[in-house]
Amino acid sequence: MYFKTVRKSLQKVLPEIVTVLDIGTSKVCCYIGRLGSGDTIQVMGVGYEASKGIRNGAIVNMEALSTSVARATHAAEQMAQVTVNDILVSLSAGLVESHILDVSLPIAGRAVDDNDIRKMQQTAAQSVGGSNSEILHCIPVTFNIDGTRGVKDPRGMVGESLGASIHVITAETGPVRNFYACVDRCHLSVSGFVVAPYASSLSTLVEDEIDLGVTLIDMGAGSTSISVFYDGRLYHTDYLPVGGLHVTNDIARGLSTPLLHAERIKILHGSAMVSPLSNQDDRGIISVPQIGEDDPQKGLQVTKSELVRIIRPRIEETFELVKERLKKFNDVAIASKRLVLTGGASQLPGVRELASLILDKHTRLGKPINVQGLDERMRTASFATCAGLLVYARGEQKLNASRQKKMSQNAPAFFGRFGVWLRENL
Ligand SMILES: Nc1ncnc2c1ncn2[C@@H]1O[C@H](COP(=O)(O)OP(=O)(O)OP(=O)(O)O)[C@@H](O)[C@H]1O
Ligand SMILES: [Mg+2]
Repeated sequence: MYFKTVRKSLQKVLPEIVTVLDIGTSKVCCYIGRLGSGDTIQVMGVGYEASKGIRNGAIVNMEALSTSVARATHAAEQMAQVTVNDILVSLSAGLVESHILDVSLPIAGRAVDDNDIRKMQQTAAQSVGGSNSEILHCIPVTFNIDGTRGVKDPRGMVGESLGASIHVITAETGPVRNFYACVDRCHLSVSGFVVAPYASSLSTLVEDEIDLGVTLIDMGAGSTSISVFYDGRLYHTDYLPVGGLHVTNDIARGLSTPLLHAERIKILHGSAMVSPLSNQDDRGIISVPQIGEDDPQKGLQVTKSELVRIIRPRIEETFELVKERLKKFNDVAIASKRLVLTGGASQLPGVRELASLILDKHTRLGKPINVQGLDERMRTASFATCAGLLVYARGEQKLNASRQKKMSQNAPAFFGRFGVWLRENL
């Protein structure tokens, strides 16, 4: 199994310098970060490239994508003046499945310890993992002891039976192997995968939001992905194959303009809602170059309101679809009233207001926080996933450092393929 080796390498204490790679639909972005003492993360190197050869989160052109990856990592290496070997990579939520499993374990009157929790993770993972799927994350969400629900950390508590709800995220082996091969072509190796909206949450959400429950929507170029936190834990992930690129396409079609101009017009003048001063939107005229027309004087003249009329239905439809998905999965996401939007496409004016209206939640825009050394351009929502990968790596470093100490004293016999999820323990 590919994951066996990869996850095993994660058992080692991560080095102080880590390299992460976000492979998105529009861009491939690499950060090299120094994980300092305490909670600091200092970005030392940055590289990004237009992404090629990826569709709906999966590789469709290996050569093109590996060129983008090689260029992005090389630029980051040059800036940081280090040579990279291993990278932690984001995986699109379109390639994964979220499962919540209830498992129980007899504890016969003794105090619960780390090994009990790992055994439960192993049981949950075994019941969903198959020969064609790989386990990416295995996160205990809530515990109960002898029927007492809502226990956050059962370690040290005494009882007869320990129960847990465990969130297992799986990915199909085939597409995952292609990412290994792609990174391998760049003479690098994958140290692990993190589901993209999980990474985005880690760089944009504050602790209170995670504890009280929050839904995060990462609005990218080709996708809108969702992560739901409940009681401090990632409870669900979901994915819709629609994003900012679709808005650009709508503008290009609606105004008969080349994609390049449609993208520029969207960024400069686009909005998902008419402004409160809507007569201003009618007065500002935008000149739109036409497909096949060289003479800029012959551009189409449109008002901002006309542009909004093209953009709004797509954003509305996206949030309506998100609403359906959240309803389907269960009422936890609906019950939490807080929503954070991130990803490049969330930067369109009016998106926050529309989300708040349709999803009926208190909504804010999320940008990467707690990562130092990023210039202003990189502190925007487009780079939330990449920054989040560094936050994830720091979390692992801390967990592994403390666990490795314990493991060397008392290595449990069941540490096989599944033992590696200790990192997503408590
Ligand atoms: N200021 C802006 N206003 C509106 N849209 C923007 C702005 N900046 C970027 N975008 C849009 O954001 C999208 C890119 O976002 P992002 O970089 O998060 O995507 P990605 O990670 O490459 O894609 P995905 O996550 O879907 O694989 C593009 O569609 C782009 O048009
Ligand atoms: Mg993205």
